This record gives sequence, structure tokens and C-alpha cells, in this order.
Amino acid sequence: MAAGGSAGLRVEGLHHRLGERVLLDGVELDVGPGESVAVTGPSGSGKSTLLMCVLGLVAPDRGSVRVGGRELTGLAAGQLAQVRRELMGMVFQFGELLPELTPVENVALPMLLSGGDHRAAYRRATELLADLGVPHEGTATGMLSGGERQRAAVARALITEPAVLLADEPTGALDPEAREAVADLLFTVSRERGCALLLVTHDLSVAARAGRTLRLEAGTLTDVRDGVGA
Ligand SMILES: Nc1ncnc2c1ncn2[C@@H]1O[C@H](COP(=O)(O)OP(=O)(O)OP(=O)(O)O)[C@@H](O)[C@H]1O
Ligand SMILES: [Mg+2]
Repeated sequence: MAAGGSAGLRVEGLHHRLGERVLLDGVELDVGPGESVAVTGPSGSGKSTLLMCVLGLVAPDRGSVRVGGRELTGLAAGQLAQVRRELMGMVFQFGELLPELTPVENVALPMLLSGGDHRAAYRRATELLADLGVPHEGTATGMLSGGERQRAAVARALITEPAVLLADEPTGALDPEAREAVADLLFTVSRERGCALLLVTHDLSVAARAGRTLRLEAGTLTDVRDGVGA
């Protein structure tokens, strides 16, 4: 582990303003390897923006984001993209996959973009999809069910074995059964593979499975279990 326990995700003093509105007002967050943190909070409070800042897709006004011991703020776009590819995985709400590609190609893509060997990438993608119970032989991506698509999106986020896994309402569009399967997968995989999981969710039963639950409101993160209302 890197010095200061910073092998996972560490966010310090993050400020972000949108016009007159202060969206992030000194956000502090630490997610260690194998730990999981759920973030809840009202719609529009800035949860997705926080994830975008962590991904380096939105530049905060000030503060520090360290991923796997690397400081992201201040990096040039190309370096940022490289750190993102090497150290981070992201699952979006609707499990966006490219319909033109097969499920295996979708999952293999991040590994190919990081310069991975084609055969190894396809082999790993096929293994992951099989492990996660997603049909992948002769199935077009567009034919997958919502839950299967979301599991494929998790596989795609995991193929590079990221130090940090980010998920923005990954179960929001799923029925209860698929929601359980995707949540199981995220929590088990992050624990077993030692990646730091930061999950935004409106679903309190999913949040309850995380090691810690935080609430983003009025620009700051507070611990739900220590304080007001679960
Ligand atoms: N690029 C942008 N330009 C202008 N306003 C934006 C932009 N991105 C986000 N916002 C605004 O910033 C606020 C926070 O948005 P964000 O998507 O982070 O909220 P959220 O907590 O994820 O909400 P939800 O729970 O509905 O997903 C919202 O008021 C949104 O309209
Ligand atoms: Mg959001």
C-alpha cells in the first residue's frame, strides 16, 4: 500500500461551484482498498458531479483527488485519461454499452484501449461474462436484458482490475432480482479484489450493504449512521 493509506481513493477539501451555487463545499472522503462507501442525498445535490470530479471529467475549483496514490488534479488531459484507464472503473446508471459491439467486445474494450493484448482481452472478457452469468455467445448486445446489460457493464468496469470502482446508481433501472445480483457483484468483487468502491444510490437497501453510508447535502458529506436519519 502506498504511504498514508492512499492506495484507494482519497478526496480532500474538494470545492466545486456552478455559477452562484456551491455544489461541493469542502468534501472529504477516504475509501481504502476493499472498502465500500455509499453516497445518498437529494436529487441535484451533486452526487454525480462528485463522481465526475473523481474521474477527472469535471475539474473542481480546488481540492485534491488521489487515486491509487496518484494526484489527479492538475494532470493534463492525456495523463488523466491514462490514470483513468489504468486505475479506475465506472458503472453508469443504465449500463451504457455500445450496441454495435458484441458483449465480449464491449467488456474487452477498456483493456484494448490500455494497449492490452487482443487475445488476452477477449479471453478475460469472456471469462468475466461467464462468471457473471451473462449470455455472450451469439448474443447481440441489444438483446441483453437490463440486468444482463448492467452485469456486463460491471464486467467492463472490472476488466482492468481498477484500484477504484465508481458506480452511479447502478441498480436504479433494475427489478428487485437483478438489483440484488448487481449489488452482490459490486460488493463482493470490490471486497475480494481489494478495490475501493464508491457507489451513489437512492436505494437504501443497497446503501445499507456498504461499509459506510454518507449523505451529500448542502455541499458536504456526512456520515448517515452517526447522525440524522438513515
Ligand atoms: N454541466 C452542467 N451545467 C449546468 N448545471 C449542471 C451541470 N451538471 C450538473 N448540473 C447541475 O448541478 C446540480 C447537481 O447535479 P448532479 O447531477 O451532480 O446531482 P445528483 O445529486 O447526481 O442528482 P440525481 O440524484 O438526480 O442524479 C444539478 O442542479 C444539476 O442541474
Ligand atoms: Mg446523479
